[in-house]
Amino acid sequence: MKGLIFQTYIDFLTKSHGEELKNFILRDAGSGDRDSYEVMGTYPFKSLYGVVAQTHAHTGDSVPKILEDYGYYLFDILAVSYAKYLGEGVDLFGFLESLEDHVHVHVNQQFPDASLPSFTYKRIDDNNLKMIYESERAMSDFGIGMIKGSAKHFGNKVSIEKEDLTPDNNGTEVEIRVTIIND
Ligand code: HEM
Repeated sequence: MKGLIFQTYIDFLTKSHGEELKNFILRDAGSGDRDSYEVMGTYPFKSLYGVVAQTHAHTGDSVPKILEDYGYYLFDILAVSYAKYLGEGVDLFGFLESLEDHVHVHVNQQFPDASLPSFTYKRIDDNNLKMIYESERAMSDFGIGMIKGSAKHFGNKVSIEKEDLTPDNNGTEVEIRVTIIND
């Protein structure tokens, strides 16, 4: 995973739990602090998971909740540096449908060794989009946080359901159903 993801995770820890607890979490995960990661550097995915596991150990929050909250936080950060992908004429579903062939493709050009998931889509109707998430990193909860961040950005209220499609529930293939709630 890119250093950008580690650095932002450490900012997220500081904002959510304060400097002191962040330091305990990083110490127990055997991780360096923010300045030991370079934005463009690449670090093992399992190091991120180590920090997430220690966040769970220190806060009691579940790993899916931590990943979702982090995805929600990260979206706002990425939305600033990648504002062009959120530009005019794009709505929430249009944006989510552009991840696979557009947004993440550009991310891959910028960071050739980025570890990105793959998505396939089924637009059911104007208010319902089905996305199939596939990645060996099993981070669909992080994706759900990013979807919630996107919905806030586009001014939509959504409900999200997910279903693990793998026989052993390992999270590497997950159906995510996004429903726009009009009130
Ligand atoms: C402006 C929009 C976005 C940008 C610039 C962006 C960029 C990135 C970057 C840089 C990574 C990390 C790659 C690495 O460290 O190797 C990533 C991973 C990921 N992105 Fe996006 N992303 C965006 C929107 C989204 C949205 C809306 C979703 C929601 C479905 C999403 C789902 C994911 C997931 C689940 C991962 C984790 C890797 C994995 O599961 O294999 N992204 N993205």
